[in-house]
Amino acid sequence: MRFGLVTVAVCLISIDGFAEVVRGPVLHASTDGMMTISWDTEKELVGEVSYGDAGTQEIAAEDTPGTHHIITLTNLEPNKQYRFQIGGEEGANSGGTFRAGAVGDFPYRFTVSGDTRTQAFFHRVVIDRVLAARPDLHMNTGDLVSSGEESDDWDVFFLTEVDLLRHIPFLPVIGNHDKDENTFYDEIWCLPGVRDNPLYFSLKYANSLFLVLDYGEIGDGTTQQDIWVAGQLQDAKIDPEIRHIFPAYHVPPVSSGPHGNDDNEHMLGNLHQKFVEAGVKVVFNGHDHDYERSFYDGIYYVVAGAGGAPQGGNMATPAPNPQEYSQVFAFEFSFAQIDVDGDLLTLSAYNMDGDLIDRIEIP
Ligand SMILES: [Fe+2]
Repeated sequence: MRFGLVTVAVCLISIDGFAEVVRGPVLHASTDGMMTISWDTEKELVGEVSYGDAGTQEIAAEDTPGTHHIITLTNLEPNKQYRFQIGGEEGANSGGTFRAGAVGDFPYRFTVSGDTRTQAFFHRVVIDRVLAARPDLHMNTGDLVSSGEESDDWDVFFLTEVDLLRHIPFLPVIGNHDKDENTFYDEIWCLPGVRDNPLYFSLKYANSLFLVLDYGEIGDGTTQQDIWVAGQLQDAKIDPEIRHIFPAYHVPPVSSGPHGNDDNEHMLGNLHQKFVEAGVKVVFNGHDHDYERSFYDGIYYVVAGAGGAPQGGNMATPAPNPQEYSQVFAFEFSFAQIDVDGDLLTLSAYNMDGDLIDRIEIP
């Protein structure tokens, strides 16, 4: 299955004359006024990005030749739609579109799926559905690949998501399968301007603050990440632009899925209390390969982990570990969609047939 997918994708790339690009282009979620684009080429060259709208064109170029290219565009107009091409000495050879990081109460949509490792066919079907929803931002709740140290796994991931990654800025959350090496944010993903620490970071987008955390560093209030989260929430409290805070970490504190019996109660201690005090409405998790909306002590905990990874033959069967806080549970390949409009959040979820499996308005 995996070999077949790679072969087909490489053939398509060759036919279109894009043979030089072996990964990407990838849009990395960026804050207002910036956009970071990366891609990889077979041979060393000085990469460049030309970008603009129908009436303008600018060029940003690297200083030195290489095969892994990272260019951060700056001084972009917030909320504005841009198109771009990547290239080098031999001209442009791929491209896409993006909206520069939104600011203020700009209504926007983001989508969430996770656990995309393995089963590239299902992964691709879900991603096609995500693309059709035309989000402004896409988050993966972790376990992007089976083994973060295997370059082949990343090749399959980038081929499977190639059309999404060149149009929708991507927000990655680290999972247990991704963190075999600490290369996740250092070599694969780059979020300049928003990353203060190795495995957790924040992103301000429109009227929202995304808090992307390392599940392994959630403690009783004393870990470096705990202290950082408290500071982020304190800053958000006095920022008049922030109406929503969206924390995300891979392992869910409450779940009816196969990991529902794991001992994760500590995640409902200090961290949860901090979220309650900060007015958090929704937290996003993955790890279990299903969709679930739970409501615990005033906060919706959403597991969006049905992005392609195996479901162990459990499809269409009841939840294996039903828990009292669960409101919706589905063993279906799926993604979550959140529409943000002022104070109002509309949370929806769709399966891979495009059928609505959950919707709730959260004022
Ligand atoms: Fe996981």
